[in-house]
Amino acid sequence: IERIGVMTSGGDSPGMNAAIRSVVRTCAYHKLECVGIYRGYQGLIEGDFKTLDARSVNNIINKGGTILKSARSKEFRTREGRDIAFKMAKEKGLDALVVIGGDGSFTGAMIFSQENDFPVMGIPGTIDNDIYGTSSTLGYDTALNTVVEAIDKIRDTASSHNRLFFVEVMGRDVGHIALNAGVGAGAEEILIPEEDLGKERLIESLKRSRASGKSSSIVVVAEGDKTGENVFDLKYYVEENLPEYEVRVSVLGHMQRGGSPSCWDRVLASRMGVKAVESLLDGKTNYMVGIKDSMMALTPIDQAVKGKTDIDLELLRVSDIMTT
Ligand code: F6P
Repeated sequence: IERIGVMTSGGDSPGMNAAIRSVVRTCAYHKLECVGIYRGYQGLIEGDFKTLDARSVNNIINKGGTILKSARSKEFRTREGRDIAFKMAKEKGLDALVVIGGDGSFTGAMIFSQENDFPVMGIPGTIDNDIYGTSSTLGYDTALNTVVEAIDKIRDTASSHNRLFFVEVMGRDVGHIALNAGVGAGAEEILIPEEDLGKERLIESLKRSRASGKSSSIVVVAEGDKTGENVFDLKYYVEENLPEYEVRVSVLGHMQRGGSPSCWDRVLASRMGVKAVESLLDGKTNYMVGIKDSMMALTPIDQAVKGKTDIDLELLRVSDIMTT
């Protein structure tokens, strides 16, 4: 292997720049050429490349977003698109590809690799933490801190007005952000897709909380939760059943994807980039790097895509005890 391509794909997440930096510098360390591919697979199809040396990634470790930009390419989902991408990769002399992204990006990498016998390595970059084979994805820790900070602010106004706030957080189909940020921010209830609390039990819980002397409450709702049709449906349901409550909704949205990465995410990104490049040099392909029990680990990319991440049930219990 002499030349490695690196791209960011799918939803961006804090720490992607730190991972690009790590891949580029590990290549430089091992005297390999590194080529940045802009806008994910779309840039691969269009040949939107730039050679990156160790100095071209100065001052990005602390930056949110991705200097390589990101995209969700429709064209790459077609065989024709992937054939053009392969042609471009060969023309540029790429020997392997490091894909920083989520499960959709890994599915693309896997198919591309199988069709063309092309070495690929995945680095899990998503705030959702929904990838099997790593206890933490890049950006998840930063997103948790962002959400906790936002809820701390909402708490100030909630308690001043004796209000109940529903705070919707991201996470796609999983509740990792909601559960962990909910516990970290001291939420009264946490609604996640993995556990069906039910609207009636929510009402009972809120009644109990009022009876125990609490005048304001925060309920964190994962965007994938199905307790109500959506977070506004929950608001109307509570207003109907508990008219004494003044309810507000706050949807945190894409601010959860931005910001300077936490120290944890920067260190994780640095470690993952080294592991990705050195694993390719060791002749490994079709793996995703991850962290397991504080150690770097490789997981076959098909398992990373198909596997399910478990929610920490003990944390749910901790949350229940904390709302006593
Ligand atoms: O996967 C990251 C994520 O931010 C999810 O939490 C969310 O459901 C989705 O992406 C939003 O996607 P988009 O940026 O296309 O609105």
